[in-house]
Amino acid sequence: MRGQGERRMYSEEALCEIRARTDIVEVVSGYVLLKQAGNTYKGLCPFHTEKTPSFTVSADKQLFYCFGCGVGGDVFSFVMKIENMNFGDAVRMLAERAGVALSQDESPEARAAREKRRRLYECMEAACSYYETVFAKSRDAKEARDYVKRRGLSDETARCFRLGYAPRAWDSVLTTLTGSGFLREELVAAGLIIPSKSGKGHYDRFRGRLMFPITDTSGRIIGFGGRVLDDSEPKYLNSPETALFRKGKTVYGLALAKNSIRNESRAVIVEGYMDAIMCYQFGFKNVVATLGTALTKEQADTVSRYAPQVIIAYDADAAGGAATLRGMELLAGVGAGVKIAILPQGEDPDSMLRKCGKEAFAEVLEDAKPLTAYKLHLITSQADTSKLDERIKAAKEVARVLANVESAVERVEYAGKAAKMLGVSQEAMLGDINRLVKVSGSRRVKRRSREAQDRFEASRYTSFKDDIARSDEVVQVLKAERLLLRLMWESKEVLETAAKRLKWDELSDERHRTLARAIEESQDAHPEGMGKDGLTSGQVIGLIDNGGILEYAAGILVGEDEKLPDNLKKAAEDCINVILEHHLLDRIREIEKELMSLSCTGEMQKSKELLAELGCLKKRISEELQPFRGTL
Ligand code: UTP
Ligand code: MN
Repeated sequence: MRGQGERRMYSEEALCEIRARTDIVEVVSGYVLLKQAGNTYKGLCPFHTEKTPSFTVSADKQLFYCFGCGVGGDVFSFVMKIENMNFGDAVRMLAERAGVALSQDESPEARAAREKRRRLYECMEAACSYYETVFAKSRDAKEARDYVKRRGLSDETARCFRLGYAPRAWDSVLTTLTGSGFLREELVAAGLIIPSKSGKGHYDRFRGRLMFPITDTSGRIIGFGGRVLDDSEPKYLNSPETALFRKGKTVYGLALAKNSIRNESRAVIVEGYMDAIMCYQFGFKNVVATLGTALTKEQADTVSRYAPQVIIAYDADAAGGAATLRGMELLAGVGAGVKIAILPQGEDPDSMLRKCGKEAFAEVLEDAKPLTAYKLHLITSQADTSKLDERIKAAKEVARVLANVESAVERVEYAGKAAKMLGVSQEAMLGDINRLVKVSGSRRVKRRSREAQDRFEASRYTSFKDDIARSDEVVQVLKAERLLLRLMWESKEVLETAAKRLKWDELSDERHRTLARAIEESQDAHPEGMGKDGLTSGQVIGLIDNGGILEYAAGILVGEDEKLPDNLKKAAEDCINVILEHHLLDRIREIEKELMSLSCTGEMQKSKELLAELGCLKKRISEELQPFRGTL
């Protein structure tokens, strides 16, 4: 998961420093609505579809884990996954957030790349303030100010979205920003100027346009959209793809909207700049725009991270397009409850708000249809039901849509409605649907629960019929090992007891052995970190991470039952007994099998050794386990 090359870019100290100054709960809260439950926090997993929260963040361990999909790790892995970043970028982002200077342990290339990006951000910000100032003050911008007024935007709204104006001249941004010390090559990289065809000079990309700055989720300027003030083409000119700006990844207005989206648990996605801005002005502050493109997977992921429900409010014609429908499927796929608002024909949110007002638009949002209902609406409203062949064609399309609906109840419900609208028999339609369902099969993906994973691992013992009972034993032992590891982390005393009674090789799972060693090692390295509060997470995480089992470890350490037993010591001893008993009995069984086969070949020396070991094992059982029998 984490490239070795990237790891080497930063020292272990720097990573520790970042961990120490970063609270995973705070970071995760930027993406997921978390509810506190003691020392852990729960929320809906941003990495898979779920209705009840199994995504857990532990404040004291500084780890996260989802008991639904098994994704877990530390704050770095979280940022990597949710931002789709590599390790280096995640480290830089968290370092910046925590105010940790990485410069001294950055490689020269990494430093140069970071410096370049920083300059790009600066350049975009400088351009934005320049356009803003021109818009607010310049005489040349009167036309733009009038245009904005004509479109019904208040001064306050314009300021809030940092609207600007790019003068008509060919070199305004060029002259201004080179005057402030930016290089031409930086302005080209920022997408603000373009090399002229002759190859000699450069000219401004945006001229005579109303400027809409586009930001990332934290409000940094990454691009611009520029609108003409008349009917010329293209209506909007956007920044090209740059190191900062990826159109398909960006959602317009999210920095302003994200808090409202989180608070209302609902996002509205519109198509255009003006739509998003007008919604905001009318008090709908949970609105973002997709910049005219069909919704991409990345955009869908980004928006659904902030809210469990998303309403798409596209222009009436666009909303029915194949690309838009795909976008909606994407949203449904990332787990958002998707609904589609049906706008009056010919209107977009901006024009509708201005024409019909706030209440009418709110109503359209309230009446938004779930995806399936919306698709049926499209099919049935487009079909000419007076013609038999159109009715049949539409009925077939309906059947195809409904065959993908998981719930049989829903299928029947929708089929009834659609059949009625098309004037076809409900039975015949259900027949068609059920045939399709059989062919494509149920699409349900079974969640791999912890228990199921254990059974899977235990299955290596169950290749023989008489071993099936032992599969349960293995499940029990794996459970005991996991609990013991948690307890070892929590308490120095438990760690010492466990180390005394067990060799780590006696744990049945390789990952458990690695984790046990990591916990022990970090105690040796940080004896002061131990005590009643156990190890601090940063101390162990570094070591676990190197062992390559961070995700699995997070699952254990975050805790399956959340609450630890009251009596840690007693619980630990129970665990050790289960583990030891299993290990010893397992080895005894193995030896007995080997002795059986040896008795055929008659290898005396080997048999002798095995018998001696058998004696030792039996002695250990009576000495190390019998005394505890009474307490079990
Ligand atoms: P629309 O054509 O629906 O424009 O494009 P609009 O948002 O209603 O704009 P106004 O109301 O006429 O000012 C929707 C979005 O598609 C992108 C822009 O992001 C726009 O907001 N678009 C459109 C472009 O990028 N370039 C274009 O030439 C047109
Ligand atoms: Mn419009």
